[in-house]
Amino acid sequence: MGTPPRAEADSLKPAALARPLSVMQQQSRIPGFARLTLQERRRAVSERSCLDAEELHAALERGGIDDAIADKMVENSLGTYALPFGVGLNFLINGADHLAPMVVEEPSVIAAASNAARMVRAAGGFEAELLGLLMTAQVQLYAVHDALLARRRILGATAELLEAAARAVSGLVARGGGPRSLEVRDLGEGYMVVHVQVDCLDAMGANLVNAIAEALGPRIAELSLGQLGLRILSNLCDGRRVRVRCAAHAAELEVKPQSWQGKLARGYSGQQVIDGVVQASEFAARDPYRAATHNKGIMNGIDSVVIATGNDFRAVEAGAHAYASRSGAYRPLSRWRRDGERLLGELELPLALGIVGGTLRIHRGARLALELAHVASAGELAMLAASVGLASNLAALRALASDGIQRGHMSLHARSVAAAAGARADEVEQVAQALSRGPSVTLGAAQRMLGELRERRASAAPGV
Ligand code: MEV
Repeated sequence: MGTPPRAEADSLKPAALARPLSVMQQQSRIPGFARLTLQERRRAVSERSCLDAEELHAALERGGIDDAIADKMVENSLGTYALPFGVGLNFLINGADHLAPMVVEEPSVIAAASNAARMVRAAGGFEAELLGLLMTAQVQLYAVHDALLARRRILGATAELLEAAARAVSGLVARGGGPRSLEVRDLGEGYMVVHVQVDCLDAMGANLVNAIAEALGPRIAELSLGQLGLRILSNLCDGRRVRVRCAAHAAELEVKPQSWQGKLARGYSGQQVIDGVVQASEFAARDPYRAATHNKGIMNGIDSVVIATGNDFRAVEAGAHAYASRSGAYRPLSRWRRDGERLLGELELPLALGIVGGTLRIHRGARLALELAHVASAGELAMLAASVGLASNLAALRALASDGIQRGHMSLHARSVAAAAGARADEVEQVAQALSRGPSVTLGAAQRMLGELRERRASAAPGV
């Protein structure tokens, strides 16, 4: 994935890779990956990335942190709580292959995103770009009696204020980031707010931005001749957005007829799927009830990457949904349209992610996820997360526009029920398939089928 040059321009085109492709390029296409055992998957990933299998195993032990670290991270800790860590495959983004680290409790999210990414890959992959790199510090003012005068006095002191802001984050400035601009907004009835736009480089930046807001607050209040209110970042970080586009050919989108629980489900041509996805996109654009679910499907992918890499998913969620409402109505973050034989999708949202500091200092699993993601900057991580979001969205809409999501969900559910019934790695697939053919996916049915499978195997074994 390209590392964009740092600038305040609205649209930043990805530039060349920071690391030589020949040495570092990953391979994210691993056919048959889901059918491997866990150990084989670790080996397959390590062969295609710069991680070794031992490192993978060690970093994921106990979910990446132990009790002692958990005790330092939060108050009143009683221990740790783990979630599955998986890998999204097939992500080709701006011409480079990426494995996507994904942490999520919901079955089928990782498989669905990987499947959609494979379809997109066949049409050239995702094209991602950063639309700005700036976070916003807010300084609230109230009881301002003359808003025009306050604005004039604050803007007149812009240079002084930006210098003071730079002193508050001198380390960041030394690395090439720092405060860039200042804006005054009149909220009416004596309320005003001053925004300071800050380039946080590869940090998510909450601490840096808050430090600036707190450092400038008293002087800004003095200049406004009003009272000082809150000093905190805004999670509607629309100065740090990412846009990702993709295409998928009709031939890739086709849904073949399949048998499920004794019945043959009908198939859908690629053209029918394209029409269905475009209709679904229109539905979301016209109805906030649907837009919320549409966006949830996008966040399935984005949050998985955000959580895996130790980033603040609450901040990302807050920013995404505020951005979805920017017109005054809640809208979908992505749109889909037809272009002849192709389906075209586009997603845009604010995405403040970090690849340094915070949880990453102490969470081995998050550090591993970042290495796996193979990104050279926070911007590249945002482009990866957004691509996974758009893939998740495509997978959900394709399923919804054909025979619904239940069949896909249930076949994955069948695998976890098989495992819960005690099936070993070499038995899970067969028990799950038998469950899918039967009338219901229950623990009792899985136990019975597992028993039958073992009996069949025992009687087929030589010497029995
Ligand atoms: C389920 O986690 C996500 C979906 O509801 C998304 C959607 O409806 O687009 C399938």
